[in-house]
Amino acid sequence: MNRPLGVTVSRHILDSQRMHPEATGELSGLLSELIVAAKTISAEVNMAGLADVIGLSGKTNIQGESVQKLDEFANNTIKKRMARCGYVCAMTSEEEDDIIPVAECYEGKYTLAFDPLDGSTNIDVNASIGTIFSIHRRRSSLTIGQGTIDDLLQKGTAQAAAGYIIYGSSTMLVFSTGEGVHGFTLDPSVGEFFLSHPNIQIPDRAKYFSINEGNTAYWDENIRRYIAYIKEVNKQDGRPLSGRYIGTLVADFHRNLISGGIFLYPKDSKDANKLSGKLRLLYEASPFAYLIEQAGGRAITGDGRNILDIEPESLHQRVPLIIGSKYDVDMVEDFLLGRR
Ligand code: AHG
Ligand code: MN
Ligand code: MN
Repeated sequence: MNRPLGVTVSRHILDSQRMHPEATGELSGLLSELIVAAKTISAEVNMAGLADVIGLSGKTNIQGESVQKLDEFANNTIKKRMARCGYVCAMTSEEEDDIIPVAECYEGKYTLAFDPLDGSTNIDVNASIGTIFSIHRRRSSLTIGQGTIDDLLQKGTAQAAAGYIIYGSSTMLVFSTGEGVHGFTLDPSVGEFFLSHPNIQIPDRAKYFSINEGNTAYWDENIRRYIAYIKEVNKQDGRPLSGRYIGTLVADFHRNLISGGIFLYPKDSKDANKLSGKLRLLYEASPFAYLIEQAGGRAITGDGRNILDIEPESLHQRVPLIIGSKYDVDMVEDFLLGRR
């Protein structure tokens, strides 16, 4: 088969690095290792439907190896590869209560926060799932060795890079190092990501809204008023918006980024946990907020704060998240702050 020559993700990373003579190549090295982990997870995701055939999770497969659940597999793949890559000094994962230390002699100058498998309720039904990552420069001195929790608890504005991998109808990697958002599609036949979506900008106006409407009874009145408003008919200003909700943040975000949309996971009163939102600051809200601002959109909590400005207090802190096309995030904010 003839394929046009594409720009590989490694080429793209090296070309961007060349624009910065002061760069040491460590961030490029970190991203390259992470991409290998992503390709490993992607291959496993493609086999997930066969889990019942080759052996259920938690059991032993026909080769006598124990079969891991996909979220455990994704967590172990990233953790093991990145702990020994030499570029990170500390990590945190949704799947681990505590900070993940890195092997001695392998401490680098970056930290990594990740959600190894986002949308885990969608694994068994063959819908899109993803991986999310956020990278910061360490604050503690390199001579100290391993990084500390303080290196991980940094604001979104301080991110050196952030991105996600979506395991959808094809596997895509979307990331930013602060110079725009770029998307790469995996060609599984050669095992390479090729640049398919350079310089992604989110449309200023949303076509879609994404929220779990099953929580309506638990929302504040102002969120209810906003959702009722975008469902009203007004052809001049594009209402009603169309509803789309997958229940995988990566997939809902990706669609809205490409097509224009707004995603909301506000705080709700369903249980004590959700009084401050459901999604996690360090490896869900913050990386997406970084990407959306790079793409011309906005991300807020709804109580007057921008996601990127929040000082994290703990590794698994939750926040309300409202993210997407600028016009629409501004509009939600007006409703939530009582200006409409
Ligand atoms: P995870 O699978 O990593 O636990 O994340 C699930 C998250 C996110 O992907 C999604 O947007 C949200 O939970 C869906 O929550 P609801 O089922 O409450 O709508
Ligand atoms: Mn998640
Ligand atoms: Mn997860």
